Amino acid sequence: MTEDIEADVVVVGGGIAGISTAWELARAGRSVVLLEADRIAAGVTGHTTGRLSSAHPWIYAPLRDSLGPEATRSYARSQQEAVEHVCRVAGELGIDCDLERRPSHVYVEPGERVDDLRTEVEAVQEAGLDVSFVTETSLPYDIAGAMRVEDQVQFHPRRYLLGLAEDLVRRGGRIYERTRVVSQEGPHRLCTDGGRAVTAGDIVIATLFPLFDQGLLTFRLTPLRELVVAAPIAEEDDPGAMFITREENTRSVRTAPYKDGQRLLLITGESFPPGYNDVADHQRRLVEWTREHFKISEVDYWWTAQDLDTADKVPYVGQMDEHLYVATGYARSGMSHGVMSGRLLAGLLTGERAEWTDLYAPRRVHVAREAIPVLKTAASYGRRVVTGRVRPRPTSVEDIGPGSGAVVQRHGRPCAVHRDDDGELQVLSAKCTHLGCVVAFNDTEKAWECPCHGSRFAPDGSVLQGPATMPLRRLDSGEPSGGPSDESNEQDEPGA
Ligand SMILES: Cc1cc2nc3c(=O)[nH]c(=O)nc-3n(C[C@H](O)[C@H](O)[C@H](O)COP(=O)(O)OP(=O)(O)OC[C@H]3O[C@@H](n4cnc5c(N)ncnc54)[C@H](O)[C@@H]3O)c2cc1C
Ligand code: FES
Repeated sequence: MTEDIEADVVVVGGGIAGISTAWELARAGRSVVLLEADRIAAGVTGHTTGRLSSAHPWIYAPLRDSLGPEATRSYARSQQEAVEHVCRVAGELGIDCDLERRPSHVYVEPGERVDDLRTEVEAVQEAGLDVSFVTETSLPYDIAGAMRVEDQVQFHPRRYLLGLAEDLVRRGGRIYERTRVVSQEGPHRLCTDGGRAVTAGDIVIATLFPLFDQGLLTFRLTPLRELVVAAPIAEEDDPGAMFITREENTRSVRTAPYKDGQRLLLITGESFPPGYNDVADHQRRLVEWTREHFKISEVDYWWTAQDLDTADKVPYVGQMDEHLYVATGYARSGMSHGVMSGRLLAGLLTGERAEWTDLYAPRRVHVAREAIPVLKTAASYGRRVVTGRVRPRPTSVEDIGPGSGAVVQRHGRPCAVHRDDDGELQVLSAKCTHLGCVVAFNDTEKAWECPCHGSRFAPDGSVLQGPATMPLRRLDSGEPSGGPSDESNEQDEPGA
């Protein structure tokens, strides 16, 4: 951005939620600006597995029990409508996004919860989706049972969203990449890291973990990272369907078009919190599992990404304040939820209220379902802040090898110390610039990560992923490296 601008609506975050919302608004004739800190469709959405299904694992029976059958039916309709919407829009706009119709399965392995799965199947059927319980699948290993739903979708979300972004611009929408929102001034104005501002009638926050949350969602969202490995597989070994299990450790299976007459097998699994330092172990385990279960020779790619669980298992999508809207908490089912969010938010902003608006309302409170998860998250946050202030890890700077990092105590404060490959030390404050938890170093991915809400920082302290908007404060030069939050970073208490 080279100047201050105005729009009817400003959408912050260019993932599936933000792009879908901005596109729906432009289609409805609104002037819309999309601000993206990095590149569009390259955040979590750019590192997803791309299963687009309404039959999410283990959600329908708990929903029916807690919110009742009508809410559960509404949830199912909202999800299936999103699946069909992607197919319709990709067709209308002629977007080539490797879209393939496939059956989707939620399965349990031998010795696992078959009765629970049968209950889940009943709940999904009651919710109006056409699913069946099967014991045979095209997987090359035994399962105890699976919930199968026909005609679901696998696609390349990035290609789909780049197609939407092109159409958004054709309709007069404006997209600014590498433009990070750093503060909000009043209900209509957002300021960016380049010193420019956007003034808009309404603001939509679609930044994965919501920016500027006043505390309503902070303790109701839990970040969880997951790994994906991808390996070429012969066409005859392609199971030709999508599969997911959530037992012990998630395993999700799909394939995608690849080169030389092969398919690309995508296996997702091994959940762990941000700030966890054994990512390489998890990666090894996932590769071993893939080799044991499928005929592959090489693993060509691997990556990690993170998503957020909500306290009551339903995403938070809707109006937060008179002019503020949010979409978050997709629990690794963000393809249909992201598309649904775009439709729901654009509907709210254009006077067409979706029938499932109340179900997703971010200001809802389900005390019975949320109390325990919220208390746990708040307690963990407290521990992270306190641990950082009075009980830092007993690591000394000499123990930090090249390319590694650790939190050490300096002048009574936790410091994030990184040694680069040439042996040079970089010393930063270890207090996350979001709300003051102490970060930890992820040796495998070379990043400082905050376990509380999932902010991630490069070894030099710059922000890789929010909700933090400011870099970790540099301590070696004595000069702060960022803007206003450096002040609060000096305080002993976090800014919560
Ligand atoms: C490993 C893995 C596999 C998954 N597989 C599936 C799957 O198969 N099917 C499925 O349905 N779901 C899946 N999910 C979940 C799904 O990928 C996510 O729920 C979804 O992509 C989240 O989209 P989003 O738009 O909310 O976030 P993002 O895609 O992360 O977009 C948020 C954007 O906001 C930007 N941003 C952040 N802060 C700022 C700021 N201050 N200023 C400007 N921009 C900012 C970020 O740069 C980012 O681009 C998976 C998740 C993971 C982790
Ligand atoms: S991400 Fe919230 S305190 Fe670090």
